[in-house]
Amino acid sequence: MAERTFKMATLNVELRKIVDDSYEIEIGHGLSQQLLHDLEAGLIDPVKRIAVITDETVSPLYGEPLCDALVVEGYQADLFVFPAGEQNKTREMKARIEDAMLTAGYRRDCCILAVGGGVVTDLAGFVAGTFGRGVPFINYATTLLAAADASVGGKTAVDTPLATNLIGLFHQPKKVYLDLDTWRTLPKRELVSGMAETIKHACIADEEFFEFLEEYLEHILALEEAPCEFMTERNCEIKYQVVMQDERESGLRETLNLGHTVGRAIETVSGYRLLHGEAVAIGLVAEAHLSHRLGLLPEAEVKRMTTLLSRTGLPTQIPDYIDREELIKKLYTDKKVRNGRVRFVLQDAIGSVVRFDENVYATPVEEETVRKVLEEI
Ligand code: NAD
Ligand code: GLY
Repeated sequence: MAERTFKMATLNVELRKIVDDSYEIEIGHGLSQQLLHDLEAGLIDPVKRIAVITDETVSPLYGEPLCDALVVEGYQADLFVFPAGEQNKTREMKARIEDAMLTAGYRRDCCILAVGGGVVTDLAGFVAGTFGRGVPFINYATTLLAAADASVGGKTAVDTPLATNLIGLFHQPKKVYLDLDTWRTLPKRELVSGMAETIKHACIADEEFFEFLEEYLEHILALEEAPCEFMTERNCEIKYQVVMQDERESGLRETLNLGHTVGRAIETVSGYRLLHGEAVAIGLVAEAHLSHRLGLLPEAEVKRMTTLLSRTGLPTQIPDYIDREELIKKLYTDKKVRNGRVRFVLQDAIGSVVRFDENVYATPVEEETVRKVLEEI
C-alpha cells in the first residue's frame, strides 16, 4: 500500500459582517400604547414571547401594567422582578434572572423588555446579550438618568465588588422608549441625580444647552413638559452622535466619560451611599478642577459648572467619609487606564473637550496632581 503523506492545512473562515443595528428612540408621554402598536407593526417579528425585566419599585408602577397589556394583546409575557438598587446590578442577579427565565421555559425565541432606570436597562440588556447567545431587547426607560444616558447607546453591564460596570457587552436595543410621564413618580433625589448626566452632556458638547439648563433648571425640576422634552431630545442627540461614530469606545466615545473617572471611583468607595448621578456630579467638579490646574479650563468655567450642579441639588464636594487614598487606588480600576496610568477626559471650555491627538480624547495625568485636586474639593 502506498504511504500517505499528511500536510497541515490552513483554513480560512471568512466572516466579514455588515450589521445594521439602527434603532429609534421615541420620546413622549405615556408610551405603552405606542409600544404595543410597534409590536403589532412587527418590531420584534416573529417573536411572541416577551420577558419583562424590572425592579421591585418599578414593577407595580409600570412593569406589571405593561406585562398585562402584552398578555391582553396575545403575547406570552412574564414578569421577572429583582430588588431595586445599584447593589443588585451583579453577576449573581443576572444568573438568578436567567435561571428564572429558563425555568419558565424561555429559550432563544424571546425578546426582553427592560422597564426601569439605568440599573434595569444595564442588567436586562446584558441578560439579553448572552441569553441563548443573544436575543433582542427593548428599553422602556422610567428615570431621567436612563432617558439622558443609560438606555441609549448599547452599553450593558453589571458591577463587581471591585468597581462598577466592569463586566458587560455592547448590545443595541431594538427600540428605546423615553416615557417622560414616568418621571412624575420618581423621588426628587433620583430626578436630581439624572440631571448630572445631562449637565455632563452640555459640558462635553454644547455650551448653548448648558445655558438652557441654567435658564430652565427650575422649570425642568418642576417637570414642565416643553423644557423636559427639549432637554431629553438634546441629551439623546449629543449621545447618539458620539455613539454613531464610535460605538465600541475606541476614541471619541471616551468623551462621554467626562466626570466618570473620579465619579465611578467615588460611587464604589461610597458603598453606593451616593447615587450614580451624585457621584458623577462630584466627578465633574473634580475633573473640571483638574482641567483648570493643567491650564486648560478657566476658573470662571469651573465656578459656572459647580454653581449649576449645586443649584440642581447635586453634591459638588467629596464627602468626609470617603477615604482619599482609597479613592486614588480605585481610580486604577477605570477602563481608560493604559500602561498603569489613569487617563482623564479634560475640558477647555464648557461645551468642549480636548482632543489630544487623532482619535485620542483622554490623557494620563500625574497621580500627585490628581491627589492635590481630590484634597482641594
Ligand atoms: P435605577 O435604575 O436604580 O433607578 C433609580 C431608582 O428609582 C431605583 O430605586 C428605581 O427602583 C427607582 N425608579 C425607577 N423609575 C422610577 C419611577 N418612574 N418612579 C419611581 N421610582 C422609580 O438607577 P438610574 O439612576 O436610573 O441609573 C443608574 C444606573 O445607570 C447605574 O447603574 C449606571 O451605571 C447606569 N448607567 C449606564 C449607562 C450606559 O450607557 N449603559 C450610562 C449612564 C448610567
Ligand atoms: N455613558 C457613557 C457611554 O455610554 O459611553
